[in-house]
Amino acid sequence: MDFFFKKPTKNAREAMCQASLDLGNREIETNHKRNAEESLKDLTCHEHARVVNSGNSAIMIAMNNIKGPVLLPDQGGWTGFKKIADFLGLKISYLPTNHGIINLEVLDDNIKLKTPHSLFITSFAGYMAEQPVKEIFELCDERGVILVEDASGSIGDPQRSLACGDHAHIIVASTGSPKIINLGSGGFISTNDPNMLDNSNFLLKTLRPSPVICAGLVEAIKEAPDTLSKTLQACNFLKKEIKTVLFEEYRGINVTIPSKNPKPMARELRKKIPVNGGGMISTCPRYDRIKQPAVCLEIKNLEIKSLKNENLRKIAEITNKIISDFM
Ligand SMILES: Cc1ncc(COP(=O)(O)O)c(C=O)c1O
Repeated sequence: MDFFFKKPTKNAREAMCQASLDLGNREIETNHKRNAEESLKDLTCHEHARVVNSGNSAIMIAMNNIKGPVLLPDQGGWTGFKKIADFLGLKISYLPTNHGIINLEVLDDNIKLKTPHSLFITSFAGYMAEQPVKEIFELCDERGVILVEDASGSIGDPQRSLACGDHAHIIVASTGSPKIINLGSGGFISTNDPNMLDNSNFLLKTLRPSPVICAGLVEAIKEAPDTLSKTLQACNFLKKEIKTVLFEEYRGINVTIPSKNPKPMARELRKKIPVNGGGMISTCPRYDRIKQPAVCLEIKNLEIKSLKNENLRKIAEITNKIISDFM
């Protein structure tokens, strides 16, 4: 049973190697950026896209275009949302959720009460459970609220419910490690609003990506649907096999197990399921997962070749044994 921490795919690494040999050639560098942005437009179905040097940079550019209060889920978001809003001096309001999942009536009430200018969400609450993004978008659009979807975990959704420009005013994502598009660094922002990017020229220049990342992105985008589908399938399998999990009925790219003693339970899991090159066990409560004691199996962190059925069965068996020991 061998588990490997995710690294950029072979095709992405080869493209990045070649791009690094071409560094200094302005024409080739510009082509890499242009090609990456064309691929992003196809991927998101948004009319405008820019590659930047990280996911947080993309969030900063989105927030820099926003004046009024920012509405954030009370859990299951991304800590960067709050930090960047604080940095830019934007007022923050929190939206009560069902363990991170947004309820549309509650959202509507909160929009009326708090009059936010924008709502920032991740496609999967805490990477754990799919948000009803299309319905959230329709409500936000009707009420004049800008929906920003952080699609770091959902690029290439085969159902086209997530990371889809038809259901988000702005999409942002990290392509850092270990995301669905995993290039070690980088990120992007896309939208149909040309003013948003025109207004951000200075930030876009300051936060520009390396041409090496742009070259890798073109290759990685092609592989994203397969990576996401296999990660979703693996989580689905584990949610059925493991005794006590949260969000069994939802699509997600990690598996969350409620626990009274998350820290010792996580230590035991790390010992029994070692991962070459990184880790895959995290603990809660945590804003960017769930606000209750739990342990998460971060299946999204693993190489696709580690997600064989025999390996998944082994993870379930070990986890079930540890759950019993910690009852
Ligand atoms: C959902 C989400 N958004 C954004 C980021 C920030 O990405 P970066 O490290 O590329 O700035 C992360 C990082 O883990 C993340 O998990």
